[in-house]
Amino acid sequence: MILFFNGNYIKEKDCFISPYDRGFLFADGIYEVIKYTAKNSKGRFFEFNSHLSRLKNGLEFLKINFNESAKLLEICNELIIRNNLKNSLALAYIQITRGISKPRNHLFPGIETPPTVLVNVSVLNPENEKPGFKVIITEDIRWSGCNIKTTLLLPNVLALQKAHENNADEALLVRDGFITEGSHTSFFAVRDGCLYTAPLSNHILPGITRKVVLNICKEIGIPFFEKSIKANELYSYNEMFLTSTKMDITPVLQVENRLINNGIPGPVTIKLSKVLKELINN
Ligand code: PDD
Repeated sequence: MILFFNGNYIKEKDCFISPYDRGFLFADGIYEVIKYTAKNSKGRFFEFNSHLSRLKNGLEFLKINFNESAKLLEICNELIIRNNLKNSLALAYIQITRGISKPRNHLFPGIETPPTVLVNVSVLNPENEKPGFKVIITEDIRWSGCNIKTTLLLPNVLALQKAHENNADEALLVRDGFITEGSHTSFFAVRDGCLYTAPLSNHILPGITRKVVLNICKEIGIPFFEKSIKANELYSYNEMFLTSTKMDITPVLQVENRLINNGIPGPVTIKLSKVLKELINN
């Protein structure tokens, strides 16, 4: 594969990251994952500007000086072409770190230090998608900057690994008795025909798919509340689903040992999935 690394299009095998890169040493960086779809040989990145503005927000929060955000769309498109993915379903991954600090030092390096910029693309295989997920519930041990899409993902990694070790597909994270989100997904639940999801705060990532789903609800008249879901009331909801760029809407069919909606996706989940798919593929 060809990727973009610090201003150049290079082969993956020629890409080397310094042992002093602050992304490697301190998780001092941000990232984005953006979906590419193609229809009738016309391809586009879904919600690119929303991803870009979240990325800019992260750069600002971390005070990383990167002034070339405007070139990222062109770079992503160029990578699609160079890797022959024009007619594929694909993902672009962008990671920007604060660059190199040598010798290792917690303090920011001088302003002359360029950030490290990596962009790559890969095929997204929808065949691997399951009809629905089993989830576990675990404590949310992340920091209080979860609204920033940093590469500081160790708590998320540990939570997903725990899910995997319990034969589940995702972990729902609980902070102070309320479900925040999944380890790598936004979380929604339906009760009496109304959709609930945690409100935007520093405890959740402002998911782009989350935003699109809420906009769909407005358009098609599904009532929704951005209101946190209590973990101990979870089983009073009759439908649940997860969202992310990679998985769109994925029904939750089992939480721990309990089936949700008898283990089949509910009507609100099915309706929203259908409309979201149409939006993405048009
Ligand atoms: N994960 N919440 C968390 C903690 C996430 O990591 C993600 C995305 C989401 C969904 O966000 P969006 O709809 O913008 O993809 C919610 C990405 C895809 C990842 O880390 O691979």
